Amino acid sequence: MEHVDLIILGAGAAGLFCAGSALTQGRRVVVIDHAAKPGEKIRISGGGRCNFTNLATVPDRFLSQSPRFAASALARFRPEAFVALVDQARIGWHEKTQGQLFCDGKATQITDMLLNRMRGADLRLGTAVQGVRHQGDRFAVSLTDATLTADRVVVATGGKSIPKMGATGVGYDIARSFGLRLVETRAGLVPLTFAEQDLALCKPLAGVSTEARIRHRGGDFRDALLFTHRGLSGPVILQISSFWQPGDELTVDLAPDCDMAAELKRVRGQAGRVAVATALAQHLPERLAAAITAGMGLAQARLADQPNKVLEAVGARVNRWSLRPVGTEGYRTAEVTLGGVDTRDLDAKTMQARSVPGLHFIGECVDVTGWLGGYNFQWAWASGDAAGKAL
Ligand code: FDA
Repeated sequence: MEHVDLIILGAGAAGLFCAGSALTQGRRVVVIDHAAKPGEKIRISGGGRCNFTNLATVPDRFLSQSPRFAASALARFRPEAFVALVDQARIGWHEKTQGQLFCDGKATQITDMLLNRMRGADLRLGTAVQGVRHQGDRFAVSLTDATLTADRVVVATGGKSIPKMGATGVGYDIARSFGLRLVETRAGLVPLTFAEQDLALCKPLAGVSTEARIRHRGGDFRDALLFTHRGLSGPVILQISSFWQPGDELTVDLAPDCDMAAELKRVRGQAGRVAVATALAQHLPERLAAAITAGMGLAQARLADQPNKVLEAVGARVNRWSLRPVGTEGYRTAEVTLGGVDTRDLDAKTMQARSVPGLHFIGECVDVTGWLGGYNFQWAWASGDAAGKAL
């Protein structure tokens, strides 16, 4: 049976990076993936331009049952270190808002860079991992077409998001088979879905986007909100979806810079003949303003004819729109999987299972999930580096 120093399961962001780091330690490394190509999620990330890190990375940008767990790896492999690699590879990049760094060109440049960095490792594609077990003081990894043994195994098989792209959740099965605890998984960074009543507003507005602020369970985000045929999406919704729990009501501020009731009263004082919808449209997309006023029976109404009570109701509808999602679009479209291998069972410096020396878990399969904005890749690089250098 073929034996190597290290087998990395998963040729995604975390696995590829880990392989490069492990090579610096002079190990013989095999990387396994059932996909036909490595780094498929990198390819589609950031709208094809890969938001490869966020300069504002700090541990509180991550959700986990143990919020401090990620701090050690994130401190030892900083965004600047990744940017240095990107610069070395002469990949052009630019900063969007909030420290988010994107490639100027295609996301696949990042995959190529990672593959270059791990030259010397043996990448085996098109073979699925079926399980890992102890064999004496080694690990035996069962693949579709063979069994390999290794001194160490790094599990980098990601989460359950986007099964169409090869997500299997096999990392959780491996963790469970070695007695590690799991934090219940759920879809994160995912559009929210609604019942008929709220959908009645969303559907006709599909395609309309507006800036909104949502505060919920400790999350506080201000970004674009997008109406869709199925409900709501856009960065502000994706962000808050990771905080939202089934049954929760959300309160959305559709005009975060404006006290809309006060504004409508002010305009009424100066130009009473103006329609309520027209006044709203100064602060909201026209179609949204029209839908809100129509929904309140104020389609043609003029400001001068409205008592304070009505304008206050319109203001509340804009600044405190409350709605109850019935669910999310689930793993089918989620960018990430929340939960995963319980960090209490892992060493924060090496990502090694405390009770299973030589077995490591990195990337998305661990219960560390970043906000939208490049944080998830930074976690993949940092946790991959921690495990790779520990070997
Ligand atoms: P990842 O999922 O990348 O890799 C796991 C690998 O394991 C895959 O190659 C898979 O084929 C393989 N695998 C699974 N089961 C297997 C089995 N049984 N046998 C063999 N191989 C198996 N993040 C960010 O920071 N910036 C961004 O711009 C984006 N954009 C983005 C867009 C979209 C559409 C999605 C879905 C996600 C993002 N993300 C993101 C999130 C980011 O892609 C994610 O956090 C990382 O890819 C996680 O890296 P991992 O290596 O842990 O898993």
